Amino acid sequence: MNALAATPEIYLDHISKTFARPGGGETFRAVEDLTLSIAPGELVALLGKTGCGKSTIFNMIAGLGAPSAGQVLVQGRDPFREFDLFRGKIAIVFQSDRLLPWRTAIGNVELGLDMLDVPREPRREQAQSWLERLGLKGHEHDYPHALSGGMRQRVAIARAFATNAPILLCDEPFSALDEHTAQRLRDEFVALVRQNRKTAVFITHSISEALQVGDRIGVLRRPARIAYDVRLSGADEHPAIRQRIQEILAE
Ligand SMILES: Nc1ncnc2c1ncn2[C@@H]1O[C@H](COP(=O)(O)OP(=O)(O)O)[C@@H](O)[C@H]1O
Ligand SMILES: [Mg+2]
Repeated sequence: MNALAATPEIYLDHISKTFARPGGGETFRAVEDLTLSIAPGELVALLGKTGCGKSTIFNMIAGLGAPSAGQVLVQGRDPFREFDLFRGKIAIVFQSDRLLPWRTAIGNVELGLDMLDVPREPRREQAQSWLERLGLKGHEHDYPHALSGGMRQRVAIARAFATNAPILLCDEPFSALDEHTAQRLRDEFVALVRQNRKTAVFITHSISEALQVGDRIGVLRRPARIAYDVRLSGADEHPAIRQRIQEILAE
């Protein structure tokens, strides 16, 4: 590996996160001495049970929270302390679509571009093009309430991709959808991440989802730390990896 290829896009260096308990005194440890290095272009699924600290890690990568100890580096910079530097560099998809109900589908996609000061014409074009890529042609002017859950999440994905951010962070984006819709969206999501050469972190509590999405899976134990880190090459090895993950999560 040459020096450039070795530079991680996302580097979590022995991070811990503690929260004060209400009433003070004792603290609660959500993340414990977690180290993880993600190379440019990797699609990493972070898998763990509910409450194991996944969203806490997610927030620290997104610069929405600082670690209590250790260091988070995204493209070599601190996403919390240097938050403004990351405008347009990190796009986020949450579990709930977080669309503005008073804006149409295209209005919601344009919003992200508006914040990056993209002028009106290219803004509209980019938003339109991403809505089409996500199969929403004809629904540009629909309001969120008129769209199904799957379609709303497609709008949220279009919004994330439209900003052209190199890094994509997703916190259980499909877990509120029915399995059939989720499965289709996962495949489309993976294809788009690859085509557009994104680096992506995909948080999930589902082993099947991690296997479908990740080219690498980081399994978390509670408090969050990496218990198993595995690269996937072919579907033939999925049963053995699933078995191993089940054992770890059962411990
Ligand atoms: N702001 C906070 N203050 C106190 N405790 C928190 C806070 N955020 C998360 N926690 C606790 O940290 C643990 C991990 O939470 P979270 O990261 O949301 O888990 P996950 O996303 O894996 O379900 C939980 O026990 C949760 O209650
Ligand atoms: Mg969570």
